[in-house]
Amino acid sequence: CGIVGVVGKKNATEVLLNGLEKLEYRGYDSAGIYVNGGSGHDYLVKRVGRISQLVAGVGPEVQGTMGIGHTRWATNGKPTVANAHPHVSNDERFYLVHNGVITNAAALRAKYLSDVVFAGQTDTEVVVQLIAAFARDGLTAKAAFAKTLSLLEGSYAFCLADRTDPAHLYVAKNKSPLLIGKGAGFNVVASDALAMLQETDQFIELNDGELVTLTADQITIENAAGEQLDRAPITVTIDAADAEKGTFPFYMLKEISEQPAVMRRLVSRYVDDAGTPQFDSAMLSALAAADRLYIVAAGTSYHAGLVGQNLFEHLAGVPTEAYLASEFGYHQPLLSAKPMFIFLTQSGETADIRQVLVNVKQAGYPSLTLTNVITSTLAREADYAVELGAGPEIAVASTKAYTAQVAVEALLAKALGQHKALPLAAAFDVAHQLSLAATGQQALIDQQDKLHELATEMFAQTRNAFFIGRGTDYYVSLEAALKLKEISYVQAEGFAAGELKHGTIALIEQDTPVVAFITDPITAARTRSNAEEVEARGAKVLRIASAALAEPGDQLIVDDLDPMLTPLLTIIPGQLLAYFTSLDRGYDVDRPRNLAKSVTVE
Ligand code: G6P
Repeated sequence: CGIVGVVGKKNATEVLLNGLEKLEYRGYDSAGIYVNGGSGHDYLVKRVGRISQLVAGVGPEVQGTMGIGHTRWATNGKPTVANAHPHVSNDERFYLVHNGVITNAAALRAKYLSDVVFAGQTDTEVVVQLIAAFARDGLTAKAAFAKTLSLLEGSYAFCLADRTDPAHLYVAKNKSPLLIGKGAGFNVVASDALAMLQETDQFIELNDGELVTLTADQITIENAAGEQLDRAPITVTIDAADAEKGTFPFYMLKEISEQPAVMRRLVSRYVDDAGTPQFDSAMLSALAAADRLYIVAAGTSYHAGLVGQNLFEHLAGVPTEAYLASEFGYHQPLLSAKPMFIFLTQSGETADIRQVLVNVKQAGYPSLTLTNVITSTLAREADYAVELGAGPEIAVASTKAYTAQVAVEALLAKALGQHKALPLAAAFDVAHQLSLAATGQQALIDQQDKLHELATEMFAQTRNAFFIGRGTDYYVSLEAALKLKEISYVQAEGFAAGELKHGTIALIEQDTPVVAFITDPITAARTRSNAEEVEARGAKVLRIASAALAEPGDQLIVDDLDPMLTPLLTIIPGQLLAYFTSLDRGYDVDRPRNLAKSVTVE
């Protein structure tokens, strides 16, 4: 979910709606705003669906100087108008937007609110009713809010409005992200700076447990003990144009097309004239001191982490394992004596990863976050942070962040290997490899029309599909399958090619689509025989091979690249096949159903 708030601006409605549009990547099941125009005029508008539906529902009368807004990704209660935020107390005094999950809502409701009739099923409504109940007992709005906060368990970012007092907004957070934006004569609140960059570039970060009171020209931060804290704003610079779609029909296609530029940018940003990637030397020493690296990630980032294992093991000589954050958080494997953690995350906000970071910090282990958003929670809270530099990624299905992650892992592995004076690392020309990758990616992007045809041929009619490969080709199979699932709703699976015959081959029928990745000389022949095995059973096979290994009949050839890095190339057809399948089926490519770009609940 994403939240926004503003106080002191004449056009509060516009500020909120613009902000919500920018936050839509955090969820879009339903959305709403509350706007207070003073002298008793206030407005609550909620809609199921996208922000555009909310915008259409907001009439010209909805004007004011203070307001809050929310875009929802349902966790607790279905996407309905009743469950959409802002939530309002029964006395219609308090309006609340919330990102997170309150885990003791049912207990609080039973204890304090047994006589209150509820409009929906969300945990948030319990919170707003509780604030109202404490205020009715005689507490000020702020004191009622503080008392409620002290009772809550779980995660939250809240923005609270009091209809009787349009000069104030109240804000608090625990685990969920939230930033205050400082304007001239107004102040704003948002889950992400991107949402408010049109209004200001001055942002104040909040820590868990703090309560903030905002007026048009004051920001008062207090800790849980009620002591006032001083905190200077930081300047956030993201080129707003970077996030504009321009002439592309969808952000996803824009972002796919940007990948060669991202590769080149990473080389010029991190690699010096001698071909050595430059990173903070304290960070490299910490990495060099580790006897094992644990890469922790979710979704697409996890798939990039799998590719990273090889890079760190080969170039930096350190055993490396990639883990799913949601598993690692609660079933931690037996760790080595001197572990170091690498959190791989596009957004830097994924709650599953944050939970692991909390555990790791408690245990006193060193940590590094590789993220696309350097101001994010995970970047701030880890010991070290490195920026992926992919530029804002807006489409829900991650593309350029994945290739940036693989590239940054390669740069870092090489830097670490050289820091440890390993000859293999010195011999690995990462800048050359990444520039070959950029050229090879461009060649594939230029074959869009062909990929569109292949997508139609392979996936137009199907309900399921398989992607197979071995080694790195297996890892890219997982990611290519995820892309297809996410945006075209084809049930797709990535498989280690050799494993197919141990069960899954039973699913192969006449015309079942199978995509085979063949870029590793060690396993190419074996993957080819696995492809033949499924073909013999009726499968429609698309072979994607690297030039040196290509054979007649391979439908798509990618340039040659070090086998550890071929996902930088092979994922391009994976992305484009998914893109065109989604397009052909008439789906909203950028905003697939049920998903959110940044999942800030566990
Ligand atoms: C969400 C997104 C995925 C993403 C995953 C991890 O589920 O829909 O595309 O891969 O979160 O996100 P992160 O920001 O941590 O890379």
